[in-house]
Amino acid sequence: MKQFSIKAVWGLMSVYLLMGSAARGHQAPTAKPFDLIQWNNGKFIYGADYYPEAWPESQWEKDAAMMQEAGINFVRLGEFAWVKMEPQEGHFDFAWLDRALKVLNAHGIRAVLGTPTASPPAWLYAKYPNIAAMDTKGVRYRYGSRRNYCLHNADFIAATTRIVTAMAEHFKGHPGVIGWQIDNELGNPKCYDPDSLAAFQAWCQHKYHTLDALNAAWGTVFWGHTYQAWREIPLPWNTLFDTSNPSLALDFDRFWSDSTHSYLDLQAAILRRIAPRQAVTHNEMGMFPDVDYYDLNRSLDFVAWDNYPTFEKDYSQYAGVGLSHDLMRGSKDNANYMIMEQQGGAGGWSVFFGRQAPASLYRVWAYQSVAHGADGVCYFRWRTSRYGTEQYWEGILDQDSYRNSRYFAVAQIGKELGQLTPLLHGSKVESPVAVLVSPDSRWAQQIQPGVEDFDYDRQLHDYYDAFRRAGVSVDVVFPPSDLSAYRIVVAPALYVSNQALVDKLHTYVKNGGTLFLTFRSGVKDEHNMVTDQTLPGPFADLAGLAIHEFDPQVNEEQEVLGPGESSFPARTWSDVLDPSTAKVLATYGKGYYAGKPAVTENQAGKGWVYYVGTESKSPFFYDRLISLAAQKSLVALNAKIPPGVEVAVRQKAGTKIIFVLNYTSANQTVPLDQACQNALTGKTEPMDVQIPAYGVKVLTVQ
Ligand code: GLA
Repeated sequence: MKQFSIKAVWGLMSVYLLMGSAARGHQAPTAKPFDLIQWNNGKFIYGADYYPEAWPESQWEKDAAMMQEAGINFVRLGEFAWVKMEPQEGHFDFAWLDRALKVLNAHGIRAVLGTPTASPPAWLYAKYPNIAAMDTKGVRYRYGSRRNYCLHNADFIAATTRIVTAMAEHFKGHPGVIGWQIDNELGNPKCYDPDSLAAFQAWCQHKYHTLDALNAAWGTVFWGHTYQAWREIPLPWNTLFDTSNPSLALDFDRFWSDSTHSYLDLQAAILRRIAPRQAVTHNEMGMFPDVDYYDLNRSLDFVAWDNYPTFEKDYSQYAGVGLSHDLMRGSKDNANYMIMEQQGGAGGWSVFFGRQAPASLYRVWAYQSVAHGADGVCYFRWRTSRYGTEQYWEGILDQDSYRNSRYFAVAQIGKELGQLTPLLHGSKVESPVAVLVSPDSRWAQQIQPGVEDFDYDRQLHDYYDAFRRAGVSVDVVFPPSDLSAYRIVVAPALYVSNQALVDKLHTYVKNGGTLFLTFRSGVKDEHNMVTDQTLPGPFADLAGLAIHEFDPQVNEEQEVLGPGESSFPARTWSDVLDPSTAKVLATYGKGYYAGKPAVTENQAGKGWVYYVGTESKSPFFYDRLISLAAQKSLVALNAKIPPGVEVAVRQKAGTKIIFVLNYTSANQTVPLDQACQNALTGKTEPMDVQIPAYGVKVLTVQ
């Protein structure tokens, strides 16, 4: 085994850090989307996360046979088995994994292998104690959980390089191994140790070149925090009542995302060099904020993510998971993706997080993944663990391997997906509407929310959910995405922006697009410094208004009168709008600015801009707003979809594949505008489609 000197490793680290810092937001979209079904030999990917190392070898054959019987053709293996593969430093044992693969492959099941770096062996921590991450108080994490390594530690980089290289060398030609999952749910905890501090200082130097530029960008004149040497730059405190400079804190968030990307790139480069015929992915976390997934996913062949719908508690609120699906799809230019961990049973660690859902609801959730663009569904996990933290995190099977109701639900979908594969192959979600997620604004608002109740993600949902209630497909776009194909773009709370994004939104509207802007837009420049222009800063001309007064809704609730005759409760924030060219659609109802504008509409070039100066807990407020915009932009809304029922569409070559998903315990009737074919039975369905409780229909129409 090759030995790595510290010097060489530091050289490698600085190269990989700089790769990350240079990469974010500047890379072109991948030319050709990855075809997951073709990758899996023409089969829809249907799988389970399997841990053969945790079960007697005598059980493997029975497991593989039961998987095959349920239509499973895919497994993810090995992502926490580092110590099994490298029991001592530099000594490897892959024989057990070879044997497991042989059993699985014999049943037509192929594998993605996880690089096991999320869970380093105890011997590694004992030998190199400084690989443990350090919290903001300077305390290192103790051994015994997972993911608590520091990705700026040279010994950890060396250990990562060694295990990934050895795995890639061993499995590169294996016909039953089709790809790799790098690490497991990268992104946290953030590490505040001396190695991270040095890496952050190097990152700042690479970004700003001179201390004068950094001091100007961060406004370090405030409290006299001017830096005269790179080594004086501190890490943020990240505590409640954080007094760190917000510009420094935002750069630290960017640095952390870049560091995560660089660590992934380090592994991806090894895998691509040694095993170029196997695909590379990572299991992501939907709305997880600490990584800019758009940036990270430039390095992957396709997106995979971990989908746990029961976190939503109220299962009829399907849009919570829906937005995560759409964000994950949007983070790689709307290419189809896969679910690496689809919920297969109730979840819990020391306690269950929710009640057990009926088995049929697991089927609805699996179809929801497919409806939003997944070309693969892999359940977490095949069987609930007998050991460790996740004894209450159910797999498809319980510990006794009894064919329970979840197993039969899984087997039913397995059969159905087999039947639907030719129809699904090549189909995609196509959306007239997009919501724009700005990682910079999201981070900056976490640093300084302005009011405690401020919630960026909730604002995304306010608008996203309204479109989904009306059956409209919604894409999630990021600042580098192309907006030109969308009729409506919602860009909530665009707090931080740079000139490129400002120009892009101006062009979009001038060319006929409809744009929603909301309170706290245009407040900060790209360095998280407040603009000296009148708010909404660079968007004032587009919105046709000025804001000279705002009111953080700390304790009280406001009221909005309009649009139309209705009134709605208003919360969080009130921008008091002073229109120049904009038309007033709603006014405030209470307090000293009662009667002043709250919502406006402005024509700019060929397009329209809606400025919404507040937030409401009433969904009807958003239904009203989107219907105004939809009329202008000719987006068709279906106002008759019952609550708790989702209508989602994939399309290909003139065929629409319509998924009608019922998350409620009641039978439902869903009026569609055309009679459709049932894709599973071949029969024609009436225009008023009947969906049983916790049921699904997959329909087609030309
Ligand atoms: C995450 C992890 C899995 C497992 C599940 C359930 O998604 O990736 O390893 O821990 O959560 O807790």
